[in-house]
Amino acid sequence: MNTQILKELIKQQRDGFTLDQAFYLDPDIFQLDYSNFFLNHWVFVDHVSSFKNIGDYFIFNLIADDIKVTKLENSIEARYISNDRICHSKIYEGLVFLNFSDNPDNFDEFIKPVQNFIELHDLSKAKVAYRKTYPTFGNWKLTLDNFHECYHCGPAHPEYCEVHSSEYIQAYGAGANTGPVSEKFKKELEAWNDKVKALGHFTGEYEEEDFSQYSRSAERTHLSDGKLSETRDGTPASILMGKFKDFDRGYTSVGPSPFNSLLMTNDFATIFKFIPRGPLHTDVELIWLVNKDAEEGKDYDIKKMVWMWDQTTMADKTIIENNQKGIFSNHYAPGKLSHMEVAVNSFKNWYLRHTENSL
Ligand SMILES: [Fe+2]
Repeated sequence: MNTQILKELIKQQRDGFTLDQAFYLDPDIFQLDYSNFFLNHWVFVDHVSSFKNIGDYFIFNLIADDIKVTKLENSIEARYISNDRICHSKIYEGLVFLNFSDNPDNFDEFIKPVQNFIELHDLSKAKVAYRKTYPTFGNWKLTLDNFHECYHCGPAHPEYCEVHSSEYIQAYGAGANTGPVSEKFKKELEAWNDKVKALGHFTGEYEEEDFSQYSRSAERTHLSDGKLSETRDGTPASILMGKFKDFDRGYTSVGPSPFNSLLMTNDFATIFKFIPRGPLHTDVELIWLVNKDAEEGKDYDIKKMVWMWDQTTMADKTIIENNQKGIFSNHYAPGKLSHMEVAVNSFKNWYLRHTENSL
């Protein structure tokens, strides 16, 4: 697809509607997306606890290259396998981030608005308890769309709805201010914020105000009455982690970039990686972290911990793949987004503006 045609196509996209078919199918657009977005962001790829000894390494696969990330004495080193060049890397809170750009954004500036949310959970004192990859046959934007709205949560995610209240799902299911305000939830949240501040725990919300290269968000909310964790019966699946001295019923959600989400209760963290593999293939990988001192079977229960997001992500995979089939149809036309899909529209507009600027 030549630049002029793509510029015209971008102009034709309507605010409040899904994108034209080509944005979810076209290999040229995918290639441009991959280099404009995925190769230009700080992306979380693994946790340092995956390394046991100096010299241990893992391979992170890109489409046109692979990166070998090796544990050194007090740091890590990331190199492109094809030519041994250094790949920019950073360990932050035990999280290994890579950036595939020659001129990466300043990491400190990138993480600054969300760092209080992450550091509350002190992931540098965590370890990987479980991981699972959900290969999803859908374009990366379609995959992310599913995680940018919770309109589908009611009919599609009984497990999620068992854990989270309908008021939370309406107002916060896809992040702060992404759905209609729930006065009931707002009042409860205000009361919870006061209580949590008195405990000395950080609370609040962050969303981007101005257009920039970043797409970050974060908020702390409270779980439903009587629930201490994101488990079926609401009881913890592991021991406390981070700066918490007691359970505060909090739920911390952080999106440092479109390619990662960190969803954290007081006792474990579920980290999402969205890795584009091709125009119609995205790997969704989940990594569950617990306190590094927790012992499996005694202090934490993997089945209990992974239940909700494992069930929910499998359902999401099916939804995304069915949506991708629908987009293949000759009868596909961009559909109107609902008031429950505000974040889908914001992400789409951010994406279009960046793509246009890159041409
Ligand atoms: Fe979902």
